[in-house]
Amino acid sequence: MTDSLLQKQCKMLKLGSVSQTYNEIPFESREQFLTDLFAEELRNREKNRNRRRLKRAGFPQTKTLKEFSWDNIILPPQTTIEHLTELRFIDEKESLICMGGVGTGKTHLVIALGFKAVLSGKEVRFFQTVDLANRLLEKNAKGTLGSLIRDLESCDLLIVDELGFLPLPRHAAELLFQVIASCYERRSVAITTNLEFGQWNTVINDSRLTAALIDRLVHHGHVLAFTGESYRLRHALSQLHVPDDVGGAHPQQNTIYKNDPAQ
Ligand SMILES: Nc1ncnc2c1ncn2[C@@H]1O[C@H](COP(=O)(O)OP(=O)(O)OP(=O)(O)O)[C@@H](O)[C@H]1O
Ligand SMILES: [Mg+2]
Repeated sequence: MTDSLLQKQCKMLKLGSVSQTYNEIPFESREQFLTDLFAEELRNREKNRNRRRLKRAGFPQTKTLKEFSWDNIILPPQTTIEHLTELRFIDEKESLICMGGVGTGKTHLVIALGFKAVLSGKEVRFFQTVDLANRLLEKNAKGTLGSLIRDLESCDLLIVDELGFLPLPRHAAELLFQVIASCYERRSVAITTNLEFGQWNTVINDSRLTAALIDRLVHHGHVLAFTGESYRLRHALSQLHVPDDVGGAHPQQNTIYKNDPAQ
């Protein structure tokens, strides 16, 4: 179907939604009609911008702060939940380190914060550590590292998920170090990890780089300890019929106990 004259004019004026919405807007006066029409156009533009920003962020799933429970999360004394959820840590270019056992909500929290940041107009990039390391290696080998670095530098919050699941090859660790270290005082970085700081060297394999990285991260950073049970395990157990008399002696509860880094 060919475009009507109105559709052509809207395209030339880059008014994406006007030719579809003008028919649905009630007419009371010329000014009211145009105001409502433009308000709808502005709403649609914002929605599209959010959609593009979300796509660029690359979240693997959607998680929200509303469904997140802060029970069992220990914050440093100077950190408040509001400082994090109102995204002031991003405005202040601070880092966030989420440390704790499996299934305790680390990835949920950083996605939920990242999601809110995107909807507030901020640029976010989400990577699993291994994917980011591989991408850095690949681009470096092709001589196109610059464009990836520029993209990472353009964001307000860089999320690096699952640091420590796998050790990194030396060169990958160095590149990753450069990326994270370059965030220092320039943009926020959020890292999730199962490892305490003392074990980070097993991933980075260079004690000098590891110390330099931790130093930068904690200088303007919030280290959150996720001390609860695994939600995944709790969910799986709730699907099973566990007889009452098994109670605290259930072998899987020992696994939960081990999950608590405070133990
Ligand atoms: N505090 C929490 N509040 C609400 N849901 C949670 C919480 N913690 C975990 N969950 C839910 O449990 C599941 C596992 O959480 P998540 O993936 O965030 O764990 P994780 O700490 O990143 O684990 P891993 O170290 O294995 O990556 C998710 O579906 C998540 O939504
Ligand atoms: Mg995770």
